[in-house]
Amino acid sequence: MSSPFKARRKALNQLISHAKLDALVITHPANWYYLTGFTGESGVLIVSHGAATLITDGRFSTQVRQETTFVRLVGQKGSLMESTGRLLREKAVKRAGFDSAQTSVAQLNLLRKAAGSRTKWISAAGMVGTLRARKEPSELARMRQAAILAGDVLAAAIPLLKPGVMENEVAAEIEYQMRKGGASGPAFETIVAFGERSALPHARPTAKRLRKNEFVVLDLGAILAHYCSDITRTVYVGRAPARVKQWYRAVLEAQNAAIAAVRAGVTCGDVDTAARQVLAGYKLDRLFTHSTGHGLGLEVHEDPRLARGQKTRLEPGFVVTIEPGIYMAGVGGIRIEDDVAVHAGNTEVLTRIPRDLIEL
Ligand code: GLY
Ligand code: MN
Repeated sequence: MSSPFKARRKALNQLISHAKLDALVITHPANWYYLTGFTGESGVLIVSHGAATLITDGRFSTQVRQETTFVRLVGQKGSLMESTGRLLREKAVKRAGFDSAQTSVAQLNLLRKAAGSRTKWISAAGMVGTLRARKEPSELARMRQAAILAGDVLAAAIPLLKPGVMENEVAAEIEYQMRKGGASGPAFETIVAFGERSALPHARPTAKRLRKNEFVVLDLGAILAHYCSDITRTVYVGRAPARVKQWYRAVLEAQNAAIAAVRAGVTCGDVDTAARQVLAGYKLDRLFTHSTGHGLGLEVHEDPRLARGQKTRLEPGFVVTIEPGIYMAGVGGIRIEDDVAVHAGNTEVLTRIPRDLIEL
């Protein structure tokens, strides 16, 4: 199978030319993996017309040779930023792009100093992110597998939800099962939140023990063959009272409306509105305190953002989460999250497990 990395660099080179840059400096690991296949965690990638150079230290030189093709390896001398700046100075680069969202002020100052005054630094935020948002068929195939694994692991965790079990125990079992299923690890710290703690959208697992008549929010994702999944289900331990069922129905309806709104050409803001309007109809929109979703891929949060007013239009190849939720401090929270791929003529929900309220 031919490597996708060269084709991606070619596509990036077009954006680099369009922005009239001589080189783009890439400091973000997921971006250099996307463009070269290099999985090391320290380095800088410079992409310029027709050439890619990785600057890294001795710990990673074998890895660069094993994982990449047509990439020049330069050994780091001094700090990474100094080595990068020096190389640009040697190459007499006049217009260097940098990702302002991924480069700190301190890093930029070091780059400027080492490259010298002949190099002009141009903010080029999101260039690689734009390419990454459009998944290739081989990426979608991996994301499908990652989503199925996350669903299977979540379904297998439900029988553990017996009164007395700790949040920590359930989280540990979930992450163990992910790895057994082939994942290199969780895509983010697994959320297992019981009772009142489920009102915290990003609760961290604790030693809290499950009691009857509590909500449980399970939010987890696996990294499989480099690609992330992200799924959330809410369970009620006991027979749900009528008001809980009504809340759940509202969130599920909001999620269905947002999933139905996902289509190539639609703005991300419109998808967010679709969820928010349903919750407004139930007078619960005030309790929906985060955005409707986010892009998913090599990282768990990437372009685009499905939030109020976002003008980005969905395109074939985008994969996004749809995850409305409502949070009632002191009572609990409900969130339902699935991963959705946008195709030219339809959409595909990658996470396959049922979404109805589970009462245990
Ligand atoms: N599932 C965690 C998050 O999206 O932030
Ligand atoms: Mn998410």
